Amino acid sequence: MNDLMRKLLWLPEQASTFAVSVDRLHYFVITTTMLASAVVGGTALYFFFRYRRLREDQTTPVVHPTVGFEVAAVSVPLVIFLAWFVIGFGDYSKLANPPPDAMDVYVMAKQWMWKFAYPEGPNSVGVLHVPANRPVRLLMTSRDVIHSFYVPAFRLKQDVMPNRYTETWFQATQPGRYQVLCAEYCGAQHSKMWATVVVLSPEAFDEWLKEQQRGLVARADILADPEMVNIRGNLVEQGKRVAMDQGCLRCHSINTAVNDTERHIGPTWVDLYQRPTRLESGETIIADEAYLTESMMDPNAKITAGYKPIMPSYQGKLSGPETAAVVEFIKSLRSDRAELQPVKGPLYEQLKQ
Ligand code: CUA
Repeated sequence: MNDLMRKLLWLPEQASTFAVSVDRLHYFVITTTMLASAVVGGTALYFFFRYRRLREDQTTPVVHPTVGFEVAAVSVPLVIFLAWFVIGFGDYSKLANPPPDAMDVYVMAKQWMWKFAYPEGPNSVGVLHVPANRPVRLLMTSRDVIHSFYVPAFRLKQDVMPNRYTETWFQATQPGRYQVLCAEYCGAQHSKMWATVVVLSPEAFDEWLKEQQRGLVARADILADPEMVNIRGNLVEQGKRVAMDQGCLRCHSINTAVNDTERHIGPTWVDLYQRPTRLESGETIIADEAYLTESMMDPNAKITAGYKPIMPSYQGKLSGPETAAVVEFIKSLRSDRAELQPVKGPLYEQLKQ
């Protein structure tokens, strides 16, 4: 059934864990709407002939539908719409929440290419290598305009924006090559902004990564693409330099030894990442990448409880990669007492050895 529907609707293969559930909802929506249109259209056509005007003096009888009919006409479509919502919301929550053991890959978009980098690992332009059957989280930013990372076979699409991080994740199910497209009109070469996801078996991926790292040491100078240096392993160092240059540290403490015993103008950066933070509005949020980035670009959007809204915006002052670097720097600031550990996958552990 799945295969028949997929072919009828000309959909690409289903190569991620999301693909089947996204398609099932798609089939459900399209089947019910098509059936409903066919019934409405068919009935109209039937009535057209059945009740056609036969004589000049003919009048149309007034029909009063029963209460039961009225109730059914409202509640049947309502139940169907609500079912779409419930199924869709479940799928959306899964898509919006990467599992904590996901492997991180940085994605940088620019007119008109995709660049990929692994923490402390290799970079590449236009080719993203990932293991099959392991979750992969993408942390994405753009150097210029809005792009959209789109992998049809994974049923995955996420906007990529300048001066901001967006994230998404997927788990590929089949080794193979899959096309990446840009799904946001971004200039003359938009339609050629392609890349490829190469899904390897987990063993082949580990092998590939080791190979890359051996090569990386040997060819470090050749591979040091100045644009991707920001997004590479020395991101933390870069972030620290940017934070010092921009004067962030006059208000935010980064001293892991004393932690937050002395009160600063702004909240401390130590153990900030992934910390539940109470806001002036009374709401509590988790300080994730999106929050940290937003706080740099739009500092008054979410004020930490007990602090004054005096931080200036860094919109336009920090480039996308610089923002990413500062976020990585904040993520690296961990005190010994921190119970929360940074969210890192098994790959990161391998990379550290
Ligand atoms: Cu990038 Cu369209």
